[in-house]
Amino acid sequence: MHPMHIGRYTFTLLLLLSPSALAWRPWLPHAPNTTTPSPSDPLGVSKKYEGSSEFVHLRYHMGPVLTANITVHTIWYGHWPVPHKRTIRAFLRSVSASEPPHPSVSGWWRTVRLYTDQTGSNVTRTVHLGEEKNDRFYSHGRSLTRLSIQSVIRSAITARTRPLPINPKSGLYLLLTSVDVRVQDFCGQVCGFHYFTFPSIVGYTLPYAWVGNSGTQCPGVCAYPFAVPDYIPGLKPYAPPNGDVGVEGMVSVIGHEIAELASNPLVNAWYAGQDPSFPTEIADLCEGIYGTGGGGSYTGQLMDGRRGVKYNLNGVGGRRFLVQWIWNPILNYCSGPNAIDQ
Ligand SMILES: *[C@@H]1O[C@H](CO)[C@@H](O)[C@H](O)[C@H]1NC(C)=O
Ligand SMILES: *[C@@H]1O[C@H](CO)[C@@H](O)[C@H](O)[C@H]1NC(C)=O
Ligand SMILES: *[C@@H]1O[C@H](CO)[C@@H](O)[C@H](O)[C@H]1NC(C)=O
Repeated sequence: MHPMHIGRYTFTLLLLLSPSALAWRPWLPHAPNTTTPSPSDPLGVSKKYEGSSEFVHLRYHMGPVLTANITVHTIWYGHWPVPHKRTIRAFLRSVSASEPPHPSVSGWWRTVRLYTDQTGSNVTRTVHLGEEKNDRFYSHGRSLTRLSIQSVIRSAITARTRPLPINPKSGLYLLLTSVDVRVQDFCGQVCGFHYFTFPSIVGYTLPYAWVGNSGTQCPGVCAYPFAVPDYIPGLKPYAPPNGDVGVEGMVSVIGHEIAELASNPLVNAWYAGQDPSFPTEIADLCEGIYGTGGGGSYTGQLMDGRRGVKYNLNGVGGRRFLVQWIWNPILNYCSGPNAIDQ
């Protein structure tokens, strides 16, 4: 174990004593002010503490989960370089791919498949890439609100040429905004979110997610650990496995949102907390945790690629990705296929 990580490991234990540790990102208001680790031996404690079950009361609220094959329809909003699109498509394709070696993206999805609906049917194993729409000319401007995001989706499904198909049962609509697009709450509170569209705006109830490229706006927050915020001195960013810091950060956020959409598409299925307007969902519980021992600013045990690359999952075409873990409802902690003790 890297010495710095021993410190972080201990720090994690301190953080786990407070519920705020449940979803860690380097948001400024949560800047750690207790970074002096105690010298206790981390190996003396249980290894299974990724996430904390003490504060977590994840419950099923009887709504649907996505048990039918999922088709992801992507909207590329703004200027999207081809290599960046390829990285994200490869990640999405990897979710159901069986060829990549362990630990794989499909192994990661196995945790999401543990969630079931009222009939006992599991979340599907199959995630297909659907149609794509390019919104190259920023149809709703370079600054979007939560509501105007729905208008972008409406434009994509009502476009005169090649509209996206309307698929409320098993379609997921993924809006990806380029580096130069501002979005309400982006960087301050969120790196992405999911919800469903309102019939009054879009004409249908469609589960959708938005994820933004934070590359120039707040990489230290939304592309951590490939970028590190200034207020954490001495922490070196990891090299991104696919070459672009902002896109690399998006991959984990896309994984987060799709996992939550699958288990809570209409925000009435799997979540913790009393308030359905601020549900804590299966990926929120494990934000910032990518490997064994993860928590706080420590990602957990990762795998090393060349030139400082760090990753935890294998994908199609020899790609590597770093994707946060997911809350495991059977084990009652966060889990992923790269756990060193599984
Ligand atoms: C961290 O700082 C906040 C605000 O200054 C304070 O309320 C909180 O008690 C501090 N946490 C610890 C563990 O010292
Ligand atoms: C379906 O979910 C149940 C309950 O979590 C789990 O025991 C079972 O292994 C899951 N099946 C698959 C194929 O993942
Ligand atoms: C769902 O996907 C599987 C491949 O994983 C395929 O064999 C099956 O035909 C699909 N089902 C539907 C209804 O499209």
